[in-house]
Amino acid sequence: MQKKTVKDVDVSGKRVLVRVDFNVPLGPDGTIEDDSRIRACLPTITFLINHSAKVILCSHLGRPHGIIDERLRLAPVARRLSELLEKPVVSLREAIGPSVEKTVAGLKDGDVVLLENLRFYPGEEENNFGFSQDLSRLADLYVNDAFGASHRSHASVAGISKFLPCVAGLLMEKEIEQLSSLLEHPDRPFAVILGGAKVEEKIGILENIIPKVDLVLVGGGAVATFLKIHGNPVGNSPVETNKMKVVETILRDATSRGVRILLPEDFVVTKKPEPGSPSLIVPSDQIPPDYIIADIGPLTIAEFTQEIHQCQTVAWNGPMGIFEIPQFSNGTKAVAQALAGLSGTTVVGGGSTAEAVTQLGIAGKMTHVSTGGGAFLRFLSGKTLPGVDVLLNR
Ligand code: 3PG
Repeated sequence: MQKKTVKDVDVSGKRVLVRVDFNVPLGPDGTIEDDSRIRACLPTITFLINHSAKVILCSHLGRPHGIIDERLRLAPVARRLSELLEKPVVSLREAIGPSVEKTVAGLKDGDVVLLENLRFYPGEEENNFGFSQDLSRLADLYVNDAFGASHRSHASVAGISKFLPCVAGLLMEKEIEQLSSLLEHPDRPFAVILGGAKVEEKIGILENIIPKVDLVLVGGGAVATFLKIHGNPVGNSPVETNKMKVVETILRDATSRGVRILLPEDFVVTKKPEPGSPSLIVPSDQIPPDYIIADIGPLTIAEFTQEIHQCQTVAWNGPMGIFEIPQFSNGTKAVAQALAGLSGTTVVGGGSTAEAVTQLGIAGKMTHVSTGGGAFLRFLSGKTLPGVDVLLNR
């Protein structure tokens, strides 16, 4: 990797500000529903502890937009981290200011502290110079391990580089290496599976990846826009009419390059995306009026599974249907199982896709499950990430 990491600098005895992405899903009672993002940062935190750094962690949680929201305090995350590290993690109720500076001044080598939710301060999302400066006062060195937040030009991600030397954490290094190798030298055949509700979010990936892949499998609600282009009825499924032209151009480009784009042959459709709502299985050119796409159908599951098994590399973003509702989750489960059984490289990314794989208990069978949602999409679109740009080069 071109960027310097924690392994390239001397951290011993230093105050190290570590930007992590502890934006974990919370249940209605505030409990952490999935701690994967906390676990993913353990290698960096442990490395810093073992190398006698004073570890000052900072993160956002949710989107409080500059206002204190008691439900989005980071104390429960500090408690979970403390359990995982099997050592105390001091949880602060502020992220900057004299009291935080006093606590940090009292840290011993190997101590760990977690600052309060950065997005309680308007300066974070504004990439405010003064807020970055206040954060920088706490440290001698900055480490970015928040791949998932690195597409944001925020004070703790981008602006901080005006004040502190910035290097990558070990999770950041792993994410960049895995995703770069996917784009630069994938083993062939290479397939990309795109699902989810919105075509708009996938256009960047499609444009960048068509020249590099052999096959694209499309599922999820996003497929309605593709069907409309082919003149097929989509019932009540939402269509992004303003994206039809660009998708047509992408399809033409794929054809001219010999890249196959496979759409579902059949769907599970329903009138209402609700648990218990009656459903039908229909051929893809016969979606009845009043119905919406809820999942890919059994013929498509068989075909997609067979195609996946022929591949050496598969990247997957976006569920195949309304995965949260068990009766519409078969397509997503089948794709996940097919990837889990593949001996080649399998990379999964994007919030809900990573959650699906974790819920199914097969995350460990993937080559890499990215912690990024928007950051994953942006990286695979071939665009730079502000939080990666500012890291020192080797
Ligand atoms: C994510 O969940 O993708 C990251 O934590 C970024 O969160 P954001 O979309 O609220 O910036």
